[in-house]
Amino acid sequence: MASEGPRPLVAGNWKMNGGVAMLKEPRLLAAMLKDVKLKADVMVCPPAIILRRVKSVLKGTRIKVGGQDCHWNPAGAHTGDISPEMLKEAGCTAVIVGHSERRTNHGESDETVAKKAKGVQRAGLKAIICIGETLDERKSGKTLEVVSRQLKGSVPEGSTADNTVIAYEPVWAIGTGLTPTTAEVAEVHAHIRSELGAIMGGEGAGVRILYGGSVKPSNAAELMGQPNVNGALVGGASLKASDFLGIIKVYA
Ligand code: 13P
Repeated sequence: MASEGPRPLVAGNWKMNGGVAMLKEPRLLAAMLKDVKLKADVMVCPPAIILRRVKSVLKGTRIKVGGQDCHWNPAGAHTGDISPEMLKEAGCTAVIVGHSERRTNHGESDETVAKKAKGVQRAGLKAIICIGETLDERKSGKTLEVVSRQLKGSVPEGSTADNTVIAYEPVWAIGTGLTPTTAEVAEVHAHIRSELGAIMGGEGAGVRILYGGSVKPSNAAELMGQPNVNGALVGGASLKASDFLGIIKVYA
């Protein structure tokens, strides 16, 4: 059912959820996925403190592990921060940067996000760069303008299809149960694809553009079936293996 284009990615963003008690979920997910043929990559992004434990639970499986945020420098005097290189050493292959919760709660600008994305790419990891409009911006017809501005400001120079993933997450759809219509998703994703072409040239065609915001098993097939939707960034529904599996199976 999935639309044509780059190999999709379904990534679970656990946010600030999940301690040792939650290790059973990735273990269960790996077991349930064992014999399923998939046309997509699968990833979980747990809190940093439990990354190595999750990585070890997933050893030998095809489920990849990613970080949720990082500093842009490889090392140094940055109390409380984690570098892309440290995340790589812990087994990550990607890092989410510029999530709207970071932009809002930690005042991260496009410039900061671009620095972080560059750091992630320097470490040899994929930067999952998040963008998306607020409800006010959507209501005032500014969605495409906002998305363009965020892309231009947050995608660093030298980005490639291999080291860059874009996640379109309308802020008003995150954790609310609300989603844009499929036509709205298709419109924004087509716009992102065209902007990526302007920013990255030919590489833009191969960049995965994920949709995120209240993705669940019941709406995943419809959302993932839209043109230029190359997977999902899933919050709440990635915390339970059975729910996450219901989304991943769109690509079975
Ligand atoms: P929900 O799936 O919980 O809406 O969260 C989406 C998100 O922010 C993923 O990064």
